[in-house]
Amino acid sequence: MFKILVRDNYDEVSKEAFKIMKKVLNTGSPVLGLATGSSPVGLYKEMIRDHQENGTSYQDILTFNLDEYVGLPRDHRESYWTFMHVNLFDHIDIPEENIHVPLGNGDIKKNCKAYEKELKKHTVDIQVLGIGSDGHIAFNEPGCPFDSETHEMELTEQTRTDNARFFDGDINQVPKSAVTMGLASIMRAKKIILIATGENKAQAVKDMIEGPKSVDCPASILQDHPDVTVLLDKPAASKLTLFK
Ligand code: F6R
Repeated sequence: MFKILVRDNYDEVSKEAFKIMKKVLNTGSPVLGLATGSSPVGLYKEMIRDHQENGTSYQDILTFNLDEYVGLPRDHRESYWTFMHVNLFDHIDIPEENIHVPLGNGDIKKNCKAYEKELKKHTVDIQVLGIGSDGHIAFNEPGCPFDSETHEMELTEQTRTDNARFFDGDINQVPKSAVTMGLASIMRAKKIILIATGENKAQAVKDMIEGPKSVDCPASILQDHPDVTVLLDKPAASKLTLFK
């Protein structure tokens, strides 16, 4: 069940996302499911501002990130572990042991199992998502089964091209696969917010909301989730029949 909010620009979208996040933060010690990439950065800035101005504490909060590139050392400048520390964790008072980011090195199969096992001990109260221009959520690419749990996924050419901007514009530097929470793992979250801005997300957003539920658009599985808020700017909403 989707609630769709369309705002004028990225800043407004981020503020709206933060309002939802703040309500969850106010409930006590929630478990947060977090994403990387450009979409949630504005939300994380709001969380940092709120921590600094209002003293909102993350001492008792657990976080689980969606994914990590395979083959990058943890401290690589573009690993998702680094991304999360630079964009959020280093600026709030979360204890390092409360942070969970999948491991993209070593025995990948074993890491995936261990991550899913840890995740299953908890209920994610709010899951933050972006969406790929090919309809992926986390790194569950088109064709990924709806019942998937944490696994390694080969990245599509489209995703590697989209993410080359973080790797000096060079697709060859973008890892070929990632460890990712599965679609079934994501669906267990109590509440989901999905942030999408920019025209290159418009088709994926339309397919997610108005298309058939199909593995061709992994995000369409969210049609079955009871509590998903989709936060869009106007270009990302531009292909929705609803807004025409
Ligand atoms: C990142 C993730 C991906 C991104 C998606 C959109 O943890 O899970 O699904 O959310 O690729 O990326 P941006 O926000 O950079 O457009």
